[in-house]
Amino acid sequence: MTETTPAEAQTPPIRTFHPRRGRMSARHADARAALGPAFGLTVHDGDRTPLDLAVLFGRHAPVVLEIGFGMGETTAAMAAADPGRDYLGVEVHTPGIGNLFALVGELGLTNVRVAHGDALHLVHRIAPGALDAIHVFFPDPWPKARHHKRRLVRPGNVALLRERLRPGGLLHCATDWPDYAAAMAQALAGDPGLRPAGDERPARPETKFERRGTLAGRPITDLRYVRS
Ligand SMILES: C[S@@+](CC[C@H](N)C(=O)[O-])C[C@H]1O[C@@H](n2cnc3c(N)ncnc32)[C@H](O)[C@@H]1O
Repeated sequence: MTETTPAEAQTPPIRTFHPRRGRMSARHADARAALGPAFGLTVHDGDRTPLDLAVLFGRHAPVVLEIGFGMGETTAAMAAADPGRDYLGVEVHTPGIGNLFALVGELGLTNVRVAHGDALHLVHRIAPGALDAIHVFFPDPWPKARHHKRRLVRPGNVALLRERLRPGGLLHCATDWPDYAAAMAQALAGDPGLRPAGDERPARPETKFERRGTLAGRPITDLRYVRS
């Protein structure tokens, strides 16, 4: 199915990440070598080959996409506590990819797949309505005004993500940057296909960047919307 959204009109999409160098430790490299063939996925920019999630996970179960999982501790913890759902994490930072593979191996998780590449390319490979939830926890804040166009949570991308959710599926964003929280709230509330999920306290382990934000005295904002 092809659907046109403002974000899809941007080819290639604006990069939402800092190019960062990072070396993999032996633990990470070993884990990636061992688990990559069965649990890994490389995302190539511009590749639009449809991704069959049931084939990827080897079963039919609700799928959660986590964008920018960092070192993957939160992804691994959530997947371990939620064996009935499958977790597809996508990240560009190589040490984080290696660390999530290591955690998957150490915890014996079978419901995690690790995608290496740009999430804004990966989502085009996911069928509309295919996801149970999307998590965007503490995306890069891009604090300078001239960089705001690089922020992941903005209207065109929100529309792109919302289309991948099933009706009733959850888009859960969190940030420790107040002006980004305000911009996120505006983008989410302004999307005609989303409605607030209610303000019950979200079940979410603390992430590494959340900890940094809290230590620096920044407030944490969680925004949860469901697809209508
Ligand atoms: C500030 S860190 C937060 C990491 C983690 N979620 C946490 O809370 O600790 C944001 C992460 O998003 C990743 N990222 C940003 N844009 C991305 C994209 N388009 N696709 C995949 N990963 C992305 C970055 O590499 C970075 O690791």
